[in-house]
Amino acid sequence: MGQPEVILAIESSCDDTGIAVLQNGQILANVRATQIVHEKYGGVVPELASREHEQQIAAVTMAALEKADLALHDVTHIAYTQGPGLMGSLLVGSAFAKGLSIALDIPLIPVNHMHGHIMSHFIPSASNQEIPTFPFLCLVVSGGHTMIVKLTNHHELDIIGQTIDDAAGEAFDKTSKILGLPYPGGPVMDKLAKEGNPLAFQFPITNLAGLDFSFSGIKTAVLYFLRDNLKSNENFIEDNLNDLCASVQHTILSQLMNKLELAVKQTGITQIGIAGGVAANSGLRERLQAKSAEGWRVHIPEFQYCTDNAGMIAMSAYVNPTTSERDYHLKPEPRKKLVDA
Ligand code: KG4
Ligand code: ZN
Repeated sequence: MGQPEVILAIESSCDDTGIAVLQNGQILANVRATQIVHEKYGGVVPELASREHEQQIAAVTMAALEKADLALHDVTHIAYTQGPGLMGSLLVGSAFAKGLSIALDIPLIPVNHMHGHIMSHFIPSASNQEIPTFPFLCLVVSGGHTMIVKLTNHHELDIIGQTIDDAAGEAFDKTSKILGLPYPGGPVMDKLAKEGNPLAFQFPITNLAGLDFSFSGIKTAVLYFLRDNLKSNENFIEDNLNDLCASVQHTILSQLMNKLELAVKQTGITQIGIAGGVAANSGLRERLQAKSAEGWRVHIPEFQYCTDNAGMIAMSAYVNPTTSERDYHLKPEPRKKLVDA
């Protein structure tokens, strides 16, 4: 069976309602409604997230179709995020997807959110003219996951390293919370870090054996460091905010880069990419880009395809060999694994 012609993709795993339209492998629309309701709680409130998805999803769908200049009856396949993610959020997207599939009488393609993040590399765009060839190593760094994935094709994946505790995005969010910054902390820390000195303060860079990561130590290190310094200067955080952000970011990125370097050394693979929300980090993008000088073929997705978006879900469905699925009994899987054990 050929590849699907017009995919309408739905992403609702966490706190962004995303709808994308992909026609013959090209993204025509990638629309996203971000939920600001969580800001005052300092993190995503699952119950509020699912309600917001419910309120936004139809309007975002219509906006995406309008942008693509297509109508609902032009759509040939529905794709949706089956997991991992928040149960309530996933339920809204999957119910909406199933409804559309039944109403339009077209196939329904369940997508693994993490596979979607990796597939963001295969979305053609003005700034992504060279898509990766296989074998391809992808560092996947999001709010809930940190792993190095080896791909021999779009579907054959091997997780060769992963975090044993917090994810890299979580490390950004937790340390920025300690610094009193708003949620999500990653983008804010990224912005402030640009004005700071990454070597102003030294925090230990965790180095587990092999290719696994650990990010739970950084928040404790920052907490104790601040506690000590606040004793002599109660304005220590305000006085040093940019340097603190730059130093914490440097620590997180150093562990990521150290492990990626080791993975490249161990596998001999030179097609290297980053994906997931943390791939939007300007420091990480720069450090990866610099590796081109050492012979790495570096791949960095456009910003709009790094943090959660439906474009990547559409692309994952597009490369799916079983695009004729219609399993309406399939349930959302909040803990869905990238690779089944
Ligand atoms: O992939 P994503 O949008 O959602 C998940 O699947 O988790 O990733 C969200 C994570 C959050 O932890 C957020 O703080 C982080 O990505 N993030 C960043 C940046 N933009 C988003 N971290 C560092 N720098 C950024 N510019
Ligand atoms: Zn994600």
